[in-house]
Amino acid sequence: MPASLITGWGKCLPPAVLSNADLEGLTDTSDEWITTRSGIKERRISHVETSDLAAVAARHALAAAGRGAEEIDLLLVATCTPDRLVPAAAALVQQKIGAARAAAMDLNAACSGFLYGLAVADQMIRAGSVRRALVIGAEKLHFFLDFTDRATSVLFGDGAGAVVVEASEEAGGLLAFELGADGTAAEILCIPGSGTEGEPSRERRSRVQMEGPAVFRRAVEAMGDASLRVLEKAGVSLEEVDLLIPHQANLRIIEATARRLGLDGSKVMLNLADYGNTSAASIPIALAEALEQGKVRPGALVVFAAFGGGLTWAAAAYRWGARVTPLAASAASLAPVGRSGRELLEPNVLLYGKGV
Ligand code: UT7
Repeated sequence: MPASLITGWGKCLPPAVLSNADLEGLTDTSDEWITTRSGIKERRISHVETSDLAAVAARHALAAAGRGAEEIDLLLVATCTPDRLVPAAAALVQQKIGAARAAAMDLNAACSGFLYGLAVADQMIRAGSVRRALVIGAEKLHFFLDFTDRATSVLFGDGAGAVVVEASEEAGGLLAFELGADGTAAEILCIPGSGTEGEPSRERRSRVQMEGPAVFRRAVEAMGDASLRVLEKAGVSLEEVDLLIPHQANLRIIEATARRLGLDGSKVMLNLADYGNTSAASIPIALAEALEQGKVRPGALVVFAAFGGGLTWAAAAYRWGARVTPLAASAASLAPVGRSGRELLEPNVLLYGKGV
């Protein structure tokens, strides 16, 4: 049975920045509160659609893998903020990058979506039905932010990350994964009004709602437990782990998870200070940056762990291959933005108002 290997990686961060200082003018918060409670300093606000972010990340991942878009059999976009419900964002990405041979679908497991997607691609590759997959995590979360709610609006940001996954006879690749969900906790992190529940209405408004502390407690538990189970399934020990790439939601959650696993801070990938919580995009963006920064060495044992709305959780144990550098680079980039992060949020402020 072939293994599945990540052969390419890429990211796309929209250029407009929203700093904690910008947020002080939008909602009743402070740089000090956001920094100490979450570790976030700034986030990006997208001037384009989710599929545009995804397409740029995908082009970088394809170049890194030395593959053309037409070589992809499966295109999977993990997102909870697709451009439209129909068609799937994946179909729009397929059109934008020219992946004409690929089956295309979206997958929504909120912030755990990328790891769910990686598991789906891995299993289809092992089953022999797919040889090459593009797995993308992409979000335009700011669309759903209400700045009268300081408990949610300071946490999230936009972006995309992508990987190319290929069948390989080499040993290693995705060793094991662990996926789970607890739908009884659906209400503690949700976007009511974003789907078909209730009656059709012109007044429909949908915004992120969250019970932060409850999500926090369950996140530490779920990420830690899933990581331990996945290591057991893979038959490797905690001591062998070279790098943990966790979902970038909150520095305190990540630190508590690392403590629970007994992992030294130097083995934990962090970039949430720059991007906030980008949901399904956070792990593939962090992976691309870990590779850029030389934090993934040939043969490294990498553990991924995530949790999110659902509540969902996921973990994966991955043995990196010999190549940690891209085969080629892509010049793909977004259309220029003429507005600041703060200016791009004007529609949200017009809809809900400000919290200050
Ligand atoms: O991908 C999954 C997405 N979700 C998460 O990762 C969320 C997980 N939860 C968290 O990260 C944390 O619970 C938060 C960062 C959301 C909140 O941190 P916390 O330490 O759990 O704070 P808290 O909710 O218990 O609130 C403490 C205080 C409250 O004031 P009082 O009642 O003590 O007067 C809040 O009203 O902080 C207040 N507060 C804020 N103050 C300034 C809540 N949000 C803010 C804010 N700025 N943005």
